[in-house]
Amino acid sequence: MKITRKFTADDSIVDVIEYDYTLLPFLSRFSLPLGFGNKSIASVCEGAGVDVNVFLLIINFIVSGHPDNDSLSTLNPLTIVDFLKNSHDYFLSYKFPHIRQNLLNALDLSHEDINPAIIGFYDDFVDKATRHFRYEERNLFPYVKALMEGHPSKYNIKIFCRQHDEVADSLSELKNIILNFYTTSVPNKMYDVLVDIYNCEEDLDSHSDIENHILVPMVEAIELNQCDTQ
Ligand SMILES: [Fe+2]
Ligand SMILES: [Fe+2]
Repeated sequence: MKITRKFTADDSIVDVIEYDYTLLPFLSRFSLPLGFGNKSIASVCEGAGVDVNVFLLIINFIVSGHPDNDSLSTLNPLTIVDFLKNSHDYFLSYKFPHIRQNLLNALDLSHEDINPAIIGFYDDFVDKATRHFRYEERNLFPYVKALMEGHPSKYNIKIFCRQHDEVADSLSELKNIILNFYTTSVPNKMYDVLVDIYNCEEDLDSHSDIENHILVPMVEAIELNQCDTQ
């Protein structure tokens, strides 16, 4: 069994990647430039203008599945909002178009009956994810900003939690069609697309976990605190 590691600011950034390469998309969303050499997490974050404590909170949460409670109570939730907004941009402007292009390239011309449905399912998923992200950008993120500035608001974190669904769920129908019905004599490209889809699903689930298990408790604590002081 792999022992869960807890990274600190002095660890090398290359160690993070070698420990778990599935953390690479998170490094990309912090816009950390490559060419790490033997630089520490602290020095790479400092060079890229990233708050090292936010970086460690996110990376250690993804690795362990548990947020560090001390960081939750000391960090500004707007730093998490910035990270989440960058993640939305990454999915919408890079990841989703990239998978769509690979999917188009993998379609077999002998399947003209089923090909439009496959692209249709994918486009429906992207529409749903886009609406999900826009809702957060128009409601949740401005609310957190207003809360931190002490402005009153009709919105609260309970409203968000009640309607927050799992955006990745809508990829399962597409996966099922491909896995169960998509016979092809040259499957390599479609296998690659499946790997992309599974990775994307996992990535969206982690994104959602950061919202539910990092941002939500941070905001709840601030709401409670403001109630007590009123
Ligand atoms: Fe989000
Ligand atoms: Fe979300």
